[in-house]
Amino acid sequence: MRALVIGGGGREHALAWKIAQSPLVEALLAAPGNPGIARHATCMPVAADALDGLVTLAKRERIDLTVVGPEAPLVAGLADRLTDAGLTVFGPGARAAAIEGSKAFAKDLMARHGIPTARFATFDAPARARRYCREVGTPLVVKADGLAAGKGAIVCRTLDEADAAVAECMELKAFGAAGTTVVVEEFLTGEEVSFFAFSNGHEALPLAAAEDHKPVFDGDQGPNTGGMGAHSPVGSFDTAMERRVMETIVRPAIAALAKEGAPYRGVLYVGLMLTADGPKVIEFNCRFGDPECQALMVRWPGDLVPQLLAAARGAAWPALAAWPTHASVCVALASGGYPGKYRTGLPIDGIEAAAAKPGIQVFHAGTALREGRLVTAGGRVLGVTALADDLSAAIQAAYDAVKEIRFEGMHYRTDIGRRRKP
Ligand code: AMP
Ligand code: GLY
Repeated sequence: MRALVIGGGGREHALAWKIAQSPLVEALLAAPGNPGIARHATCMPVAADALDGLVTLAKRERIDLTVVGPEAPLVAGLADRLTDAGLTVFGPGARAAAIEGSKAFAKDLMARHGIPTARFATFDAPARARRYCREVGTPLVVKADGLAAGKGAIVCRTLDEADAAVAECMELKAFGAAGTTVVVEEFLTGEEVSFFAFSNGHEALPLAAAEDHKPVFDGDQGPNTGGMGAHSPVGSFDTAMERRVMETIVRPAIAALAKEGAPYRGVLYVGLMLTADGPKVIEFNCRFGDPECQALMVRWPGDLVPQLLAAARGAAWPALAAWPTHASVCVALASGGYPGKYRTGLPIDGIEAAAAKPGIQVFHAGTALREGRLVTAGGRVLGVTALADDLSAAIQAAYDAVKEIRFEGMHYRTDIGRRRKP
């Protein structure tokens, strides 16, 4: 078969690396891809948000399976467009992708179906939102309803901060139209875990958990980023917890979407807080996490493509071997200054030496080729990913490989996988 991966970040490099290993796949394309993805796939210069161009490309190249990495094209209806063109796509249609595209939709769905989540209310008038903040009390979280590149959730310690967050979303329009509606919710405490399950429209397949590390500096200090690293599995997320999350959250959410005429086909990312009252949903996302995907793909048991196809086609799940007890760690190497301003075009050295070490994959995120030289081209540049017998061996292996890589201003956290528990 001929497969196409949409996107060009570290998540998509991990997906392309894994899909390229499948004996079912004879040709792999990526749009737009990146220099790392180009080692496994033919990269086509079509942006991940150019819906018309992507549909034309998939038809022209007679693609049998399109795998969509990022959320924006899914929320904008790429999967619907491909399906309408008679193509098979891994990733939900726009109505189901609204589980990420609209926090108000996701929260209402959870409320209607008794899925555990933070207490909340939705507002389109700032005065009402401010009044509700006083009712909930601090700390609380103000969230822009729509997609805001991971910056739309504002944790507020005081009512002054809450008032400012409401103003930022609704009056100053910091997130554009995404902030005209806000969700205000209670602050949850506990350990934060990302759990992933596939859905074929009506039935869920549990995968594995990973833990992201969002703040830019060690010890969870500094501003939030897209994710500075991840590890999998997560010690506190045992089989009993997985069963509980499947029964109280994942299956009810999949059933609710199917019942409401928006069957979910793809991967469901469940952002969880493991609270004293049990697991509660912080957010749903309609795609793999980045960098969680990198940590999951190196652990995935066997061929990924049969499960992608079953999800995309609404078919029964082919047998999936047990997940190995091996642990993985992905350490993001970022440009100095990220998530604020940073320079690009800086030469990168040492990737080959890092990748030659046992158990190491170096996934590209923000890289580019300039006159044949690999240079930095984004905030998160590379994801050095290690697979080893256990978490401490994976941490050791990942950081040993990181030492080989150099570019000016390179920044990374030194405590991925070693976070102190709350
Ligand atoms: P989100 O964009 O919804 O993933 O939120 C970004 C981050 O804000 C999450 O990863 C959490 O660390 C934090 N967060 C969001 N909602 C809550 C909540 N209700 N309670 C505590 N932390 C939250
Ligand atoms: N790592 C967080 C995300 O992908 O949303």
